[in-house]
Amino acid sequence: MVQGKWFAPGEDLSAAVLPVRTAVFGRGADDLDALSWNALVYQDGVPAASGRIWWEDGAYRLGDIGVLESYRSQRLGDLVLRLLLFKAQSHAAKEVRLQSPRDVAGFFARLGLKEESVDDTGLVEMMISGEDIDLDTCRHCPKASCPNRK
Ligand SMILES: CC(C)(COP(=O)(O)OP(=O)(O)OC[C@H]1O[C@@H](n2cnc3c(N)ncnc32)[C@H](O)[C@@H]1OP(=O)(O)O)[C@@H](O)C(=O)NCCC(=O)NCCS
Repeated sequence: MVQGKWFAPGEDLSAAVLPVRTAVFGRGADDLDALSWNALVYQDGVPAASGRIWWEDGAYRLGDIGVLESYRSQRLGDLVLRLLLFKAQSHAAKEVRLQSPRDVAGFFARLGLKEESVDDTGLVEMMISGEDIDLDTCRHCPKASCPNRK
């Protein structure tokens, strides 16, 4: 079973969020945790994917969206990204931004994030305006005969 959980700014992340972040990114707790909401996704009770969102310089920023290697390609990353975008939407975000490695930009582009620039280290700055966030999974689906459409 897949379950999602939110951790409010300043909550203890040591048991579930940090093990995922450390395994994927090689980084643990930092000063941003006091300002961020962290989303965690469990697969059958195992903390398998996480990401965070915080407010910075007039925009919501997403970061550290990662899935344990053995849990990839099961749509857990997609769920984390949707949770974070939903949080931004529910806070009436005007803009949501993130920095992505070049080879992951396509993952974020699927949900409408657009490439704006690339920094010296090769990280891609991506952005979506709040009004363009569209979390409706059915709207763009090509299956005309899906019973869910009726
Ligand atoms: C990127 C990452 C979060 C994807 O998580 P995941 O759970 O394996 O991905 P999902 O199963 O949710 O994939 C959902 C969709 O995105 C696509 N996708 C996944 N990784 C992708 C990539 N690197 N580029 C383009 N599309 C990608 C999948 O093919 C799938 O497409 P579909 O909707 O057509 O089936 C995961 O590979 C990861 O943790 N990478 C290392 C950490 C990282 O670089 N994070 C980004 C920095 S913030």
